[in-house]
Amino acid sequence: MGYLIRGARLADPRTGQTDACDILIEGDIFAQIALAGSIDVAGHEVLEADGLIALPGLIDVHVHLREPGFSHKETIATGTQAAAAGGFTQVCCMPNTSPVTDTPEVVRFITHEAKRHGFATVHPIAAMTYGLKGEALTDFGALKKAGAVAFSDDGRGLQSAGMMKRALQLSREQGMPIAVHAEDETLSAGGHLHDGAVAHSLSIPGIPTEAETTMIARDILLAQATGAHVHMCHVSPETAVAAIREGKRRGVRVTAEVTPHHLLLTEEEALTKGAAAKVNPPLRAATDRRACIEGFLDGTLDIVATDHAPHTPEEKARSIPEAPFGFTGIEISLPLMYTAFVQSGLLSIAELAARMSWRPAQLFGLPGGFVAAGQSADLTLLDPSEVRKVEPDSFRSLGKTTPFAGRKLTGWPVATFYQGRLVYDRVYTQGEV
Ligand code: DOR
Ligand code: ZN
Repeated sequence: MGYLIRGARLADPRTGQTDACDILIEGDIFAQIALAGSIDVAGHEVLEADGLIALPGLIDVHVHLREPGFSHKETIATGTQAAAAGGFTQVCCMPNTSPVTDTPEVVRFITHEAKRHGFATVHPIAAMTYGLKGEALTDFGALKKAGAVAFSDDGRGLQSAGMMKRALQLSREQGMPIAVHAEDETLSAGGHLHDGAVAHSLSIPGIPTEAETTMIARDILLAQATGAHVHMCHVSPETAVAAIREGKRRGVRVTAEVTPHHLLLTEEEALTKGAAAKVNPPLRAATDRRACIEGFLDGTLDIVATDHAPHTPEEKARSIPEAPFGFTGIEISLPLMYTAFVQSGLLSIAELAARMSWRPAQLFGLPGGFVAAGQSADLTLLDPSEVRKVEPDSFRSLGKTTPFAGRKLTGWPVATFYQGRLVYDRVYTQGEV
């Protein structure tokens, strides 16, 4: 017993091809992939997928699942259900939990909890320093052994260059990337929005682009000195895109992610959306946004990650200075990217699959990212004709705030298979599985 998905156009990130295919799932793996109309088997549930696009299960390397410690904002159960609804089958979660993910016990708790619920694979990213305090490095070897896939102090920048260099040396020994939240606190402290026209007009202290780019430039130099793989999180300023481009040109092992919000929004959002548009790093100037798009299209910014950062509706209802940074993102990332980049003709659907599945897997050493016989059956079906408004109240995530609320988007995920099971489904059973 399994599934025969008939006639979907399968976007292959490795070849760039998108052909109409039949996809056979048996147990938890893909049993056979062949051109549409060529698989004829009995005993499987047949799902007609004419007109739909099949993608390898999406992978988001930057989410906040909030457990342990902040389950009023999100839980591993709700966050992975949200991932499934967004077409994601693997996510990497950031360590700013309570307790911080700085011990093997917390790493194991997270992976165990995710397995228990079974909506998506969760790969913990462990803290680089105990308590995210920037004072003492964690035990990289033990954290790797427990299942961590990278190290990061996300939410805070590591202020000491000396400690960062040591961390890069150790991460290189473990063959793992360091994911950098670039923020020099001597430049960003007290800021709430991009240090630009909007913050000035609202008389709210700003976060200048240099707060981000000085640390990105520093860490590129340190990656060059150590030979380590440094991965830049949620890149936002034009100057940072330029620094990463130059680092790559010089052969440094630097990779980068960009969020849908930094690709699609600017500081102006705060004027109408208030704290719903408050995020760190902040939504920046139009020139920065344009540079992110250019960097994304030319590959300087390798992949898309959401920085899904749920908070309670009450927290996000506060004024800009009083509300926390961050908003929910994982349930709308695919239609945002499909509408802005694929529908507009800037990227092929196979290239988008590369940036949201295959490349993230490669950068973080994860399985999957492509569809082939023998692989874990992680698959997302997208309906390119579905046009729908973003309705945060219907999110599975406990975080209901997004500056994209009400935006009309095309190309929604309609079914997600995770390890051969239909974990999200809006077309075949018209409900949740
Ligand atoms: O906006 C953000 N929210 N940026 C971060 O770096 C942390 C995150 C959070 O944990 O809420
Ligand atoms: Zn961050």
